[in-house]
Amino acid sequence: MIAQESSAAAPSSPFPAVAGVVVLAAGQGTRMRSATPKVLHTLGGRSLLGHVLAAAEPLSAGATVVVVGAGRALVEEHLAQVAPAALPVVQEQQRGSGHAAAVALEAVPDLEGPVLILNGDAPLLRAATVAALVGAHHAAGSTLTVLTAEVDDPTGLGRIVRGADGAVRAIVEERDATPEQRENREINAGVYVGDAAALRRALARIGTDNDQGELYLTDVVGLLVGDGAPVGGFVAQDPDDVLGCNDRRELAARRRTLNDRVLDELMRSGVTVVDPQTTWVDVTVTVAADAVLEPGTQLQGATSVAAGAVVGPDTTLLDTEVEERATVVRSHVLGAVVGPEASVGPFSYLRPGTRLARGAKVGAFVETKNAEVGEGSKVPHLSYVGDATIGRGANIGAATVFVNYDGVAKHHTTVGDHVRIGSDTMLVAPVTVGDGAYTAAGSVITSDVPPGAMAVARAHQRNVGGWVRRRRPGTPAAEAAEAAQRRADAAGTDPSEVSGADTEK
Ligand code: UD1
Ligand code: CA
Repeated sequence: MIAQESSAAAPSSPFPAVAGVVVLAAGQGTRMRSATPKVLHTLGGRSLLGHVLAAAEPLSAGATVVVVGAGRALVEEHLAQVAPAALPVVQEQQRGSGHAAAVALEAVPDLEGPVLILNGDAPLLRAATVAALVGAHHAAGSTLTVLTAEVDDPTGLGRIVRGADGAVRAIVEERDATPEQRENREINAGVYVGDAAALRRALARIGTDNDQGELYLTDVVGLLVGDGAPVGGFVAQDPDDVLGCNDRRELAARRRTLNDRVLDELMRSGVTVVDPQTTWVDVTVTVAADAVLEPGTQLQGATSVAAGAVVGPDTTLLDTEVEERATVVRSHVLGAVVGPEASVGPFSYLRPGTRLARGAKVGAFVETKNAEVGEGSKVPHLSYVGDATIGRGANIGAATVFVNYDGVAKHHTTVGDHVRIGSDTMLVAPVTVGDGAYTAAGSVITSDVPPGAMAVARAHQRNVGGWVRRRRPGTPAAEAAEAAQRRADAAGTDPSEVSGADTEK
């Protein structure tokens, strides 16, 4: 099995330590034009904020502080889910990234030593890149080290200003940069590691003398350099790592890049991805070697796909486990377990609590929910199976409905081993069909069926002989009936075949 994030944590490179992590996530995200705070937009199965926290997570810092402001209630709620140990700190007014960092460090006054500060909107940042930055910082013994990257298009980003000796001198925001500085393609990634005490002192001195009138975190670089402190710049190997996400177009581009990374890793590990352009896999998903992902497949959340399984085409799996050699074709599957060699689809809808045992089958236009389907049992066509336990070797006839809802409460149905449920049976829960029993097609089963019995629960058929001739004279049906009568008369056939009788089978 291969998890996307596992590549970052190569066991050979132990993660260097930091005392604390600060994530800046209070900004409005105006350019997103969204009611949702920017850092809560999602890609690849995590929020922007979730990706940033995941990149810092292997450093196992003592304290993780997340600065919240815009949409803070929503951000705090999300944080409680994805990183309950993190401390949200409120920045009442968004006065700039420098102000946000200062507010964070004030909230943890006892924190000493190296602190990692990250923008909350860099979802492609990898743990390995952060670890390399922190490692370089420790190796050089710097007071502050800035993550940088050489990018093709630096538009809108802070530029790294280096001296003739190559040492970092300052960061200048694009809107404050000279035309010459704008030519520079080495940009500030918005990821920094620095000594907490030195950062506190420098942040106390930054001003708002810039185009936006904000307190810029980036100004601490120039201030510390001015003090003669050692300041470094560490260039990211992969410039994609540092890309921020400020509007929906960037969100789509980052999502594509992230997906490409996930699929590349899966393919390297032995997964067949037939069409990488239309296959989307969250970073939280695992897929084993020799699984096949057909075009139009989306694997989301805590989904896992085992060896030899085939998923797709046109299938979405969320929080679902697909076991060895199972197949899922053109289906929508949520919170289910698809057992070894089981088959699902085409056009099935499996809802949470569905568990298919080995070799079970759920076929076309079947919906299941909270349903266990035993080994080798089949629900081949047009059925609803809700709140059910089905034993092994059973067959559920076409158009069967597990009638689980009485308008107030849900009830359970139990179907035993090797049962044959006739087509169009209504199983009105709570009800049990014993091992080896049958139900007649079209039955409405409201009482338990003992093992081995045939349950017939439908009206007797009554044929009203000659009705069409009398009530629909002159119609094609009447003419066809009369022709049949003439043929029967000529052949001397049993008159009941055309005149009607009790025909219960
Ligand atoms: C910032 C950097 C820029 C860098 C770029 C990388 C500054 C001044 N500039 O620019 O050099 O190239 O990131 O993507 O830092 N935030 C707060 N409170 C605030 C303001 C911002 O928490 O008052 C947070 C935002 O939520 C965001 C981060 O700080 O996560 C950066 O702010 P943003 O407005 O996105 O800065 P950029 O203009 O992208
Ligand atoms: Ca940004």
